[in-house]
Amino acid sequence: MQRLDDLAATVTVRPKNITFSIEPGQSVYDAAVQNGIRWPTSCEGLGTCHLCFMSVIEGADRINAVEPFEADGLAEVVDTSREGTLRLACQVRPEGDIIVMKRGVRKVPGRPHPNSGPAARRQSDPTSGAKDE
Ligand code: FES
Repeated sequence: MQRLDDLAATVTVRPKNITFSIEPGQSVYDAAVQNGIRWPTSCEGLGTCHLCFMSVIEGADRINAVEPFEADGLAEVVDTSREGTLRLACQVRPEGDIIVMKRGVRKVPGRPHPNSGPAARRQSDPTSGAKDE
């Protein structure tokens, strides 16, 4: 029998119905970033900004328990529109599919290749104004 924690799970984020896969032991926030999805944050997953809070609509029985560090952070969050279980996305590690509610989550448009930006164009353009001394 295959253990549930050996399988990738799926996170669905409402209201935009954005869906992405999540690896075993990975946080919802880290999985979102890995999948090119912007998730509200200012600490980038360190657990200190509390901007990543979300409501777990389905699958609350498939996520890890709240640790004291997260509980302290949640105590500072006020979400009057919440439904379901309020959690920090950077602290939740699902063991199965979950559905959450989080406004402000969106897919990040494709980023330009690192060799196609202004710095790369300046290096390849001899008329760009860069002079050798
Ligand atoms: S990303 Fe900052 S607390 Fe979760």
